Amino acid sequence: MSVDKYEKIVDLALRRGFFWPSYEIYGGVSGLYDLGPLGALMKEYIRNLWIEYFVLKHQDMVVMIETPMITPEIVFKASGHLESFTDPIVTCSKCGRVYRADHLVEDVLKVKAEGLSLDELKELIESKNVRCPACGGELSDLRAFNLLFQTNIGPYKQNVAYLRPEAAQGMFTSFKRTYTCMRASLPLGIAQTGRVARNEISPRQGMIRLREFTIMEVEFFFDPEEPGEPNYSRFKGKLKILTAECRRKDCREPIVVDPEEAVKERIVLNPWLAYWMLVAQAFVKELGVNEDEVVFEEKLPEERAHYSKQTFDQLVKISRWGWVEVSGHAYRTDYDLSRHMTYSGQDLTVFKEFPEPKEVTVKKVVVDKAIIGKLFKEKASEVINAVIYADVLKIEEALKNKSNEVVVGGYSIPSEAIKIVEVRERVSGRKFIPHVVEPSFGAERLVLVALDKAYVEEADRTYLKLPPKIAPYKLAVFPLVTREPLVSLARKIYRDCVEAKLTVIYDESGSIGRRYARADEIGVPFAVTVDYQSVEDSTVTIRLRDTKEQFRIKADEVVGWVRKQLERL
Ligand code: GLY
Repeated sequence: MSVDKYEKIVDLALRRGFFWPSYEIYGGVSGLYDLGPLGALMKEYIRNLWIEYFVLKHQDMVVMIETPMITPEIVFKASGHLESFTDPIVTCSKCGRVYRADHLVEDVLKVKAEGLSLDELKELIESKNVRCPACGGELSDLRAFNLLFQTNIGPYKQNVAYLRPEAAQGMFTSFKRTYTCMRASLPLGIAQTGRVARNEISPRQGMIRLREFTIMEVEFFFDPEEPGEPNYSRFKGKLKILTAECRRKDCREPIVVDPEEAVKERIVLNPWLAYWMLVAQAFVKELGVNEDEVVFEEKLPEERAHYSKQTFDQLVKISRWGWVEVSGHAYRTDYDLSRHMTYSGQDLTVFKEFPEPKEVTVKKVVVDKAIIGKLFKEKASEVINAVIYADVLKIEEALKNKSNEVVVGGYSIPSEAIKIVEVRERVSGRKFIPHVVEPSFGAERLVLVALDKAYVEEADRTYLKLPPKIAPYKLAVFPLVTREPLVSLARKIYRDCVEAKLTVIYDESGSIGRRYARADEIGVPFAVTVDYQSVEDSTVTIRLRDTKEQFRIKADEVVGWVRKQLERL
């Protein structure tokens, strides 16, 4: 049944215009999909709903910005993507096919391989004699493949740039300016929706894994010492969490927990992380996904992105693909801002004033610039910045643990070049690097998930029970027959709806039954039919998609009635 359902959704998507493979006339490119007229509208409604939940409902602390896709190389050096945004690949020495090595090992050996190191994968491939599934050839050249799409800025080869794989870095690099514009207060969420690109090795899951898609993410900055109290009560519900500890024991039974409790019990490491997970759950409910169809799966350390201290994937079960990730919730700590401070040399710390100035003893790092200069030459100022902006306590700890060198920002620095001193200072506040939690969604995947949840087959019809807020068209208007004055009356209702900024279709071809069926199939929640009685008493028939219930209302109340339903449903 489930395989059939997915095939049917794909068929419907092609026929009626939700989505289709891009560049189809040239054979298509895997991982690239167009949104058709209905899909594009639906995605826009989903994006608007996301803005409502993640920005507008939190406009006292979340703002939206837009930053470019094209990103200079230095940004991804700093963010760690150049080094770590990779997947392992292996090549068949006979036919030349290239495979994602961990997926291949999983497919062939039926063991979990995601997150294994290159050495571990190599050992498995060799010891278990894993060979090319297509031709049986020997596998070789196992290496890390970087998923960033490379380009150049202008005509200069040395001006290397990349298409962003996440919108986040634009929010980190513009953090200080946004923070200043927003009257320097924390917590502060910076939100963005926009296109991103990832050079996936062999995406095979249709609209699930795309090489280019629209991301919708918030970087939520807060003071790690005084993070503030989220108001959990605004979004009711509990979180269903599959913890990393549980997953290690191969258990698939999630715990059901209050978000506040989850923080208290240290199941979720930060209150804002738990809060945005709760918001994410409420948001996907609006797309037609019930709470009992959502699980937050904690990633194992080896599965987490390089910047994350704790990550939960929000999973939703759909046909064919099973549990799919619809959003990621990462506790990025001060990782990104610290790295950008090191690489840009800019101070991205914030300053929080105490109610009264205080006399305190502070630890400071003193760097021997002569040693650093001699050792690191043109990189010296980068190294000095890395040390100055690093966490003093971490450096102190490192000095205690390792006698002759300390690694800061990726540089090995001789211990003799660094000293920790204590000084008494009268201070009026505290300077710190904000910490960040990030909820991040892919919009196209949500279109597919919503279609999957909405697809209903009944004996006499197939329809999409899409929530009205995300249905591409809100209303269909039909004259019962193509005769005057029915047609003019129906056209007037159509025009009134257009003027009222509703998406609406007008259809006068075929029997009324066929017109209802066509509208049902694309999820139009309401239909209006103008008939002979309309001419006499100015009423029209409203027909509800899901129940097929019909009743009459005044023709001039149609716009107001539809608006009310959209607010309510
Ligand atoms: N920023 C989230 C991600 O890269 O998936």
